Amino acid sequence: MRQNILKMLIDNMGEFISGEDMSDILGVTRAAIWKHIEILRQDGYVIESVPRKGYKLVEIPDTIDEYVIKGGLSTKLLGTEILSFDVVDSTNAVAKEKAIAGCREGTIIIADKQTGGRGRMGRDWVSPSGKGIWMSIVLRPSIVPTKAPLITSMAAVAVMKAIQRVTDLNVSIKWPNDILIDGKKVCGILTEMQGDMDIIHYVVVGIGINVNLEETDFPKELRDKATSLKMELGVNVRRVDIIQVLLKELEDIYLDYINKGNSNAIITFVKENSATVGNRICVIGVDTSIEGRAIDIDDNGALVVKLDDGQIRKIMSGDVSVRGVKGYV
Ligand code: BTN
Repeated sequence: MRQNILKMLIDNMGEFISGEDMSDILGVTRAAIWKHIEILRQDGYVIESVPRKGYKLVEIPDTIDEYVIKGGLSTKLLGTEILSFDVVDSTNAVAKEKAIAGCREGTIIIADKQTGGRGRMGRDWVSPSGKGIWMSIVLRPSIVPTKAPLITSMAAVAVMKAIQRVTDLNVSIKWPNDILIDGKKVCGILTEMQGDMDIIHYVVVGIGINVNLEETDFPKELRDKATSLKMELGVNVRRVDIIQVLLKELEDIYLDYINKGNSNAIITFVKENSATVGNRICVIGVDTSIEGRAIDIDDNGALVVKLDDGQIRKIMSGDVSVRGVKGYV
């Protein structure tokens, strides 16, 4: 019921809607409407009420909460189920548990704070309270596992579009999973998959976006490599706005690919906005390290590298990290 009341208020944001109309449409008493409005106010919604005019929604809080996120969400698949937490160890870990337990595709696990946020290659991910988007999405794509890196690319495209749309900042994609602003990392994506040789059981796409972190939130060794939207803009950015745009963008890209099986649009976007392709790079693998020029991204989302001796190597996502020869790109 609260979700329906919220939806009506959001649809009429900035305008009054009468308690009587609300109770008629939703089939509950005006007293029940008033009770839910009070709870919404306690959750941080600013709602004016004027006798004979009704209720007017003036401000939506930036809380990482199922109701708030769903309030302005226009997706059909992603976020139909949202599990929001104040604190978790890692949203990816929770998402994997839920996926194994059979949660529906599109389930979102999101937390205000992570105590054990994980990055790629076993790194930690700084995830303080109230300042970032720490979110994991469970997908069950009917594609072959070799195409799974494409899911990371889709997420990167969706994050990039969402940041650009909400903040107007200039962002680029560092293959395979980082989003950069002016060479500094503002977002990382950790995609984890479970499947057999020819079938994917689930994919967990973990997205970490540094929204309102300050320089001092990062450990000293990361301060010249990491940034946040607030550090770039000088003002706070609403996390919920980014989440809603991101989920819609990702859903559109994902369903388009699943339904049509064509990755051209994704790959073209990644290449056009790449901080990697065209540059000299150093690829650090588990026990090898190679230098060369990144020349392309193939149909599966793999990076094509031309080594100094002319050999061509294809690097799959997940088993390497990419650095610029003169530092992080
Ligand atoms: C990286 O760049 O190394 C990937 C970072 C991924 C961080 C996100 S935050 C939400 C999700 N939960 C985690 O523990 N990690 C991912």
